[in-house]
Amino acid sequence: MDRLKVYILGATGLVGQRYVQLLARHPWFEIAGMAASERSAGKTLLQAGWILEEPPPPEIAEMGIEKLDVDRVPRVDFIFSALPSEVAARVEPQLAARGHTVLSNASNMRLDPDVPLVVPEINPEDLKLLERQRAERGWSGGVVKKPNCTTTILNLSLKPILDEWGIERIHVVTMQALSGAGYRGVPSVAIIDNAIPYIKGEEEKVVLETRRVLKADFEIYVTTTRVPVLDGHLEAVYVDTKKDFDVSAVVSALSRFKGLPQELKLPSAPERPIEVRSEIDRPQPRLDRWAGRGMAVVVGRVRKLAPRKLAFVVLGHNTVRGAAGNSILAAELMVKMK
Ligand SMILES: NC(=O)c1ccc[n+]([C@@H]2O[C@H](COP(=O)([O-])OP(=O)(O)OC[C@H]3O[C@@H](n4cnc5c(N)ncnc54)[C@H](OP(=O)(O)O)[C@@H]3O)[C@@H](O)[C@H]2O)c1
Repeated sequence: MDRLKVYILGATGLVGQRYVQLLARHPWFEIAGMAASERSAGKTLLQAGWILEEPPPPEIAEMGIEKLDVDRVPRVDFIFSALPSEVAARVEPQLAARGHTVLSNASNMRLDPDVPLVVPEINPEDLKLLERQRAERGWSGGVVKKPNCTTTILNLSLKPILDEWGIERIHVVTMQALSGAGYRGVPSVAIIDNAIPYIKGEEEKVVLETRRVLKADFEIYVTTTRVPVLDGHLEAVYVDTKKDFDVSAVVSALSRFKGLPQELKLPSAPERPIEVRSEIDRPQPRLDRWAGRGMAVVVGRVRKLAPRKLAFVVLGHNTVRGAAGNSILAAELMVKMK
């Protein structure tokens, strides 16, 4: 098939650059253009400040960045948005009203009942909310969201446990990477030789978005922290299950877990969305964040602390599975589901 055209908003940011990296060689999608703020307008990605591992291919590296203007965004099949939430809140509804389909990372509208908040392996059926969104808002386009990065990683690891044993409550402590705060996020002098036990708004997002994605109302207690790691959020998770479990059965359920993206063999779908490691000191961000090309989460230290009390650690790449990669997978699903 001809490759579908996509446009990236916020292409110079940390999530935007991941979009560029993942889309530059995508088998179905072709980057038709990109936009950012006035600061980057007229520059190339390299001039604006490329910071990822490998540079983009020349045809993308030399593409000019446009200043975002909703009336000048070209007709494309999908728009991927990596804009700050306050900008997205203004721009994304205007684009949807003009007939564009926007897949967005920003936190605005994530809890609106007519907006799909999708992790493709968990709740692909929620993409159908787009029909309601169009009808209720009178839009010819639409907005699809993904949960925040910490929530996406956590929810993938919880889904097989919820399905098999039920969940009464969870306690979570996160150790979140610097890239989760964006390019101008945490000042280096604040984080080198340090850890910060608070991330504004993050704990509330984990609670509300987990309930929405998993369609469950178990108790959620969470502390989110920032640590001096570049990429990869690590989360220590304690789960009180409804039914008792064997550790070996939990490991097996996590390892066997698959969803619609795997069934449909979508290009960005990892073969196994959850990889389980048996070494006592894994997962680790530097060693494990690229599991499944950054699209798998890695679970380790699976332990039974007492009857119905499970503990484990989960790691995921926050700008791939936690952001750009998850939205690209959702777009692939939309192509297949027409
Ligand atoms: N980082 C993560 O792990 C992560 C995970 C999940 C969700 N998110 C969400 O994804 C979004 C992007 O995050 P990020 O970490 O990539 O942020 P970032 O590094 O700060 O990048 C922000 C991008 O938005 C552009 N921008 C800012 N103001 C603009 C405006 N007025 N008009 C047009 N473009 C504008 C910036 O362009 P200039 O370079 O030209 O200023 C830049 O390209 C945020 O909503 C964030 O909450 C991030």
